[in-house]
Amino acid sequence: MLRLQSPLPEGYTDASPDALADRIIAAKAALGSRVFVLGHHYQRDEVMRWADARGDSFGLSRIAADQHEAEFIVFCGVHFMAESADILTGPHQKVILPDLNAGCSMADMADLDSVEEAWEAIAEVTDIDRVVPITYMNSSAALKAFVGRKGGAVCTSSNARAVLAWAFERGDKVLFFPDQHLGRNTGVQMGYGLEEMRVWNPRLDLGGLDEREVKESKFLLWKGHCSVHQRFTVAHIEAFRAEHPDGLVVTHPECAHETVVASDRVGSTDFIIREVEAAPAGAVIAIATEIHLVQRLANEHPDKTIVSLDPLICPCSTMFRIDDAHLCWVLERLVAGEVVNQITVDEETAQWAKVALERMLAIV
Ligand code: 13P
Ligand code: SF4
Repeated sequence: MLRLQSPLPEGYTDASPDALADRIIAAKAALGSRVFVLGHHYQRDEVMRWADARGDSFGLSRIAADQHEAEFIVFCGVHFMAESADILTGPHQKVILPDLNAGCSMADMADLDSVEEAWEAIAEVTDIDRVVPITYMNSSAALKAFVGRKGGAVCTSSNARAVLAWAFERGDKVLFFPDQHLGRNTGVQMGYGLEEMRVWNPRLDLGGLDEREVKESKFLLWKGHCSVHQRFTVAHIEAFRAEHPDGLVVTHPECAHETVVASDRVGSTDFIIREVEAAPAGAVIAIATEIHLVQRLANEHPDKTIVSLDPLICPCSTMFRIDDAHLCWVLERLVAGEVVNQITVDEETAQWAKVALERMLAIV
C-alpha cells in the first residue's frame, strides 16, 4: 500500500538531538493528559524514552482499548498497529502515526482482493462453513474486517495458540494469513503435523495446491513472511552453541520452523523480555528478533550477556522510520491545534474489524 509521508518542514531535520528532546518535553507538557504516547518494543531508545506505555502488539492493543481519556494517541509503531488502536479507541480519540511510511512489509503481503479470491477458490472445493479465517495482528484493518465478517478472529504472537484452539472448536480447517511461520510454528506446538499444513501461494491457481491437498489440510498458510525474522537460521544457532554450549536461544515465532525447533524457547516480544528478566546473572542469551529490542535488553541487563542470534544487525526498517524529528513534529502540531498524520479506519471496516479484535481479546 502506498502511503506517502510528506517531507518534514524546516526546523526538524536540521535540529540537534538535544533541541528536539527539549521541544518534545515542552510539547508533551503543554498537551498534558490530552496526549498518550505508545511505544512498540522495536522502537529505538531515542523514541522509546517518550512512551507513556510500551509493549508488544497485543499489549499495546489492550492499552489502547483501555485508554479512554487521552484525546490523542500517538503510536510509535507501524501502520497496522495504529489502525487497530483507532478501531479500539472511542470516537472522541484520534490516533496519530508520526511517519506514514512506517508500514509492515509482512502485512502488505496479503490484501483484501487476494484473500477474497482465495476464500472463493477454497469454497469451490471444500465446505467453506467449516473453514475459519484467522489473521495475524500484522494485517490491514480491511483483512481484520474480513475475518470478522466470516466468523474468524485476529491473533498476535502471544495468543496465537489460544486463538487457533478457539478456531478448531468452530471448524475443521484454518486459513491463516499473512505469516506462514507463525501459523506453522503454532500449529506444531499444538500437536499438528507438518503434513497437515499447506502453503497457500496467492499468485497461483488454487494457491498452487490440488483439490485433495486443500480438502485434507488443517492449515492453509498464506505465503507471507517477515524479512527481519526470516533471516535467523539454524546455522546461526549452531555457531552460537559452539561458542556458548550453555547459552540459551530465544526466538520469535515469526522465525522459520527449523530455527524455532533448534532454539530453546519461542515467544512474542513480551515473552522474550520476561525470559531475559527471569534468567540468572551470568546467563548468555542469543535472541532472534529485531535488533533494537535486543540492544535494549543488553543495556538493561549488564549482568547477563545478551546478543543478537544473527551477528549482522537486522533492524525493522519501517519501525525505524519513527524518530524524534517526526515525533516532535506531530506533537508540536497538536499544540498548535492541528492534527497531522491521523490514522482513521472507515466505519463499516472498523465495525467488523472490531468484532474480530474483540473476539481475540475475549479469548485471552
Ligand atoms: P509482537 O506481536 O511480538 O509485538 O510482534 C509484532 C511484530 O511486528 C513482530 O515482528
Ligand atoms: Fe513487520 Fe517484520 Fe517489521 Fe514486525 S519486524 S513490523 S513483522 S516487517
